[in-house]
Amino acid sequence: MANLAQPEKVYDNRAIGVFDSGVGGLSIAKCIAKQLPNENLIYVADTLHAPYGEKSVAFIQQRVNVIADALVAKNVKAIVVACNTATVNAIEQLRARLSIPIIGVEPAIKPAAKHSKSKHVAILVTQATAENPRFQALVAQHKNGSKVFIQPCPGLVELIENDQLHSQQCEQLLRQYLAPMVKHNIDTLVLGCTHYPFLSDKISAALGADIKLIDTAAPVTQQLQRVLTAHSSLQGEKAKAEHHFYSSLASPAQQRLFEHLWQQPVQLAAL
Ligand code: DGL
Repeated sequence: MANLAQPEKVYDNRAIGVFDSGVGGLSIAKCIAKQLPNENLIYVADTLHAPYGEKSVAFIQQRVNVIADALVAKNVKAIVVACNTATVNAIEQLRARLSIPIIGVEPAIKPAAKHSKSKHVAILVTQATAENPRFQALVAQHKNGSKVFIQPCPGLVELIENDQLHSQQCEQLLRQYLAPMVKHNIDTLVLGCTHYPFLSDKISAALGADIKLIDTAAPVTQQLQRVLTAHSSLQGEKAKAEHHFYSSLASPAQQRLFEHLWQQPVQLAAL
């Protein structure tokens, strides 16, 4: 008699690689871990070379290639470039080099312009994002009649990387960068660097709760899910996910920072 049993469904339990110049990409990885709880994750922070936002395009591309190659060597099934600066400066050449799906993070200018009633929108970014032609084209393409204020924020990433989120210096820099926003009468603010969601509370406190903050963790996670589904690459429903963390500057202080931001115990290994 013919065997009518359905072939067993095969799931892809390879990990998803996620990386950033440092801990900023954890804001994306947290959303992925929440929305896709069965997926194994490998997170890499290039802490030794952070911040990318004050580096040249050539340097950023070189580091992105090194980190992505390390993730490919760990057999990841897709890579999330959880860094706006790396995405706008290096994702095209990375996609040309690798055959696995690469998902990037770009400042959410389109939803911001759609949401804004005052048609005054601001974007907080790193210097290297602000200067990037691909980013400027994205703003021009999606601003939809809004006036868009682009605010580079040098110094903020370093403070977050050094676990100085609650320092006076951080408060002072935020005041300095946010003062023009208030003057420009914005009603929507895009967090165009994955480190900045860790400052959301402080930014809202400074600007007032009426200003809508927009980050990209949820849409990036949705895009990742779409891409994995299209590649039949989602993990099975009952799998127990593992999360592994690496840094190019693994130290006890780094591990504490990871745990503070991830809000769970973390084993941080050297890349
Ligand atoms: N978290 C990064 C971003 O989204 C990079 C910050 C940096 O290294 O300057 O742009």
